[in-house]
Amino acid sequence: MDKNPVKICDTILRDAHQSLLATRMRTEDMLSIASQLDKIGYWSCEVWGGATFDTAMRFLGEDPWERLRKLRKAMPNTRMQMLLRGQNLVGYKHYPDDIAEKFIIAARRNGIDVFRVFDALNDIRNMEFSMRIAKREGAHVQAAISYTISPVHTIADFVKLGCKLAELGADSLCIKDMAGLITPYAAYELVSALKKQVGLHVQLHTHYTSGMGTASLLKAIEAGVDVVDTAISSMALSTSQPPTETIVAILQGTDRDTGLDLSALADISRQMGNIRKKYTSFEAGISAVDVNVLQFQVPGGMLSNLISQLRQQNAMDKYYDVLDEIPRVRRDLGYPPLVTPSSQIVGVQATMNVIVGERYKMVSEETRQYVRGYYGKSPAPIDPEIQKKIIGSEQPITCRPADLLAPGWEKAKQEIGALAKSDEDILSYALFPQVAKPFLERRNKGLGGKEEVAAAIAAVLLQQKQAKDAMKAAAPVAGKQTSGWKAFGRRNLQGGTWK
Ligand code: CO
Repeated sequence: MDKNPVKICDTILRDAHQSLLATRMRTEDMLSIASQLDKIGYWSCEVWGGATFDTAMRFLGEDPWERLRKLRKAMPNTRMQMLLRGQNLVGYKHYPDDIAEKFIIAARRNGIDVFRVFDALNDIRNMEFSMRIAKREGAHVQAAISYTISPVHTIADFVKLGCKLAELGADSLCIKDMAGLITPYAAYELVSALKKQVGLHVQLHTHYTSGMGTASLLKAIEAGVDVVDTAISSMALSTSQPPTETIVAILQGTDRDTGLDLSALADISRQMGNIRKKYTSFEAGISAVDVNVLQFQVPGGMLSNLISQLRQQNAMDKYYDVLDEIPRVRRDLGYPPLVTPSSQIVGVQATMNVIVGERYKMVSEETRQYVRGYYGKSPAPIDPEIQKKIIGSEQPITCRPADLLAPGWEKAKQEIGALAKSDEDILSYALFPQVAKPFLERRNKGLGGKEEVAAAIAAVLLQQKQAKDAMKAAAPVAGKQTSGWKAFGRRNLQGGTWK
């Protein structure tokens, strides 16, 4: 029996904490586990990209580039992988080519080995530039197929897409099932077809949200999938990936045995379990299986957005109406896969349609741009009636959206000026100007977000201690005269002057 070990990509440093803990895991916690991860023998670790970039600056006061460099140093033996949203890079809109090029060069330079590139609409025009640059920079280019279910998405279409991505120079393919929709049998069929007709290595990425994750990975493994994405068990399940140890244990003694050491994985799991406790307040709180994914095919992250929108409008009674409207809006818009940013576009529009009481009477700016073609080509044509209602007789663009964008590098460089100390800083600013500018200002004052907080806490503690000492000193002690010095201390305490 020929051995063909299944290889593992671990997601705890990117997707798992993005899915479970609102992307809040700090670099120091990542570093505390990195050298152990490095010893396991994973095919890769996903450590960067997706929502981690802006979240680091926005909420953690951390430089995402510095995180990458530190992880690189701590994990010299493991391929480091990132998620790149095609022309959206790590943001939520299209960026011009000069920014995309510089971003990929910098990501590569700072430590990325594998670029997983996807587009929400599977429009390869939004992927090919990033793929070409990553390839030129000597990285492994993993082109992703955004998996979804609709009347216009067939196994044959996904295979056709896989062939095109191979022609564009992809080194491997990823089936990116961001919502946990792929059934074990669909996974078997799709992996078999891609392996047979494209011939590249195939990696399967799914989420456990629907409860099918482990079964889907297993059927994909039977079909010959090369790599699967999993998360260490204490960071797995619900909206995250299937658990690593379970897959390792299932395959032990078979021709697809991963060869990974379960006890070493168990150690990591215990430590990660402890680290996770620090982030309790950010827990997504979706336990076990989310039936809405099975019933409405709406991804978990999209539902939490939807609920908060409805709460703001005081319209929670419309929840199921909106859930029913989502598939209709998706049909009208030509069946986009529901992933950032199309999931937000469809969710917001469905909510507007229900709350206003007339479909497309009110239209979000993003929906209008989508219909104009500024996100790329929809998988199926947009309903002509709906299109007319939204943009009238205006003709949608047919070119690649990024072709209409002016170069951004020089402009960003000038705007941020001396605040930027490196190309990486300029890129942070070019991607997220409102977030990066205050971040860079704080950092340049010598105060990363954390040091600033620590200094503030230290100042308060010091003040409290001084106050306590003064109180003690000033308190009259039985049988003793209160000295003038003590009275002086008390007066200061009451007057509040501590100089
Ligand atoms: Co994912």
